[in-house]
Amino acid sequence: MAKRNDDLVIAAILCKWCSYAGADLAGTSRVKYPENVRVIKVPCSGRVSPRFAIKALYEGADGVLISGCHPGDCHYSEGNMRARRRMFTFKTLTEFMGIEEERIQMSWVSASEAAKWKSVVEDVLDTVNRVGRNIIFEDGNE
Ligand code: FES
Repeated sequence: MAKRNDDLVIAAILCKWCSYAGADLAGTSRVKYPENVRVIKVPCSGRVSPRFAIKALYEGADGVLISGCHPGDCHYSEGNMRARRRMFTFKTLTEFMGIEEERIQMSWVSASEAAKWKSVVEDVLDTVNRVGRNIIFEDGNE
């Protein structure tokens, strides 16, 4: 495995009911996870537009993680399923846009899964590390 770049930034867009609560539980339980994550709380993963991911990358994030309740557990019925379909479609376009698809990832983490949250963050970071820093939107590359 390549040495991880400690300067990578991952924008984590988390549904408040499950993934945000899981990340919060990791914090209160002192489950240490990489500090590269910047958390953005949304009501439901179904609220996440591909524009959010583009904006995060444009603003300097190296990767974007969208995380919500497990299938069947969404507090708004099927927002997470909509998010999954939306992100699946979006990822088919990323290469065309010059964005490595590894930079955008999705996961399900419940409010009780602090250990899973840690594991997801480490996996996302390792994957983004393989494609390196995000230079897509640096001056002269737009
Ligand atoms: Fe968590 Fe919809 S409320 S994904």
